[in-house]
Amino acid sequence: MPIFFTHQNTPEKCNYQIFFAMNFLDSLQQTNEIASLPTVAAKLLQMLEQDDSDVRRLAHYVEQDVAISTKVVRVANSPMFGLRIPVASISQAIMTIGLTRVTNIVLGVSIFSKFVYLRTLAGAFLEQFWRHSAATATLARALASRAKLNFQEMEFLAGLVHDIGKLAMLQSDPERFRILLETIGSGTMDELEAEQQIYGATHAEAGELIANVWRLPSYVQGAIRLHHEGSCSVEDVAPLVAVVRIADYYAEEFGYGIGERHHTPIESHSYWHLLAQRAPETFADPAALCDYLEGELGTASALITALTSE
Ligand SMILES: [Fe+2]
Ligand SMILES: [Fe+2]
Repeated sequence: MPIFFTHQNTPEKCNYQIFFAMNFLDSLQQTNEIASLPTVAAKLLQMLEQDDSDVRRLAHYVEQDVAISTKVVRVANSPMFGLRIPVASISQAIMTIGLTRVTNIVLGVSIFSKFVYLRTLAGAFLEQFWRHSAATATLARALASRAKLNFQEMEFLAGLVHDIGKLAMLQSDPERFRILLETIGSGTMDELEAEQQIYGATHAEAGELIANVWRLPSYVQGAIRLHHEGSCSVEDVAPLVAVVRIADYYAEEFGYGIGERHHTPIESHSYWHLLAQRAPETFADPAALCDYLEGELGTASALITALTSE
């Protein structure tokens, strides 16, 4: 049954009526383009699920995809990872930083690559989006390291893909996405409310659905789903969600935003308190932490280049 959608609260130039025959989340599941995880990443996850952890076989498989493995090596060698001796191949990367870490980097890089073609549809938005995602991944990693929380690079993957639902929205209907950006930009509605009205779902819900279809680690699914929620009741997922949420906040604060407004200072947020309990020394001085994180952002530009290079 088609849904007739009328929106009256946007500025005049944005007044519109939209027909859409199918719920966005349903259509997302049925779209082949989104339904498949990039081949290398899917195969890698499958091999790991089958307990096939023969490093040489895994490395060999990833190296078959020259474009992906070149980017993974570039990312591993970027200042963010601070390797003293640069790695030249996937197998060297696995030997140096470990299989789980490399797997999470491969997942992040290949998911990122999957959407690079959207550049022709919405170049300006994508540039901002990449900066934001890379900054969030960089900050999440820096924060986890400072707080001595070891997520085996899951914070990097989660930071990179936390807003992936937005790309699914863009991909599914560029015109509707343009209207969404205009609505959010006009300030008449907040981001999630506008998404709900225009797409019938938020980017957090869409992102979780994609991550679930792709069978990304359940922690990463949780981080995507909950990164705009006020709190997380699932105890073991909560620290990762908290790291991504705080990284997301600072990415916006430091000028790497995509218009995701945060209404309250992060120090009053439940996620801040959760991490402060686990690493009191890191969170005791918010100004010092903020300075540290801002300094770490310097490594994000190399990461963006590594991720978006052809
Ligand atoms: Fe978001
Ligand atoms: Fe974000």
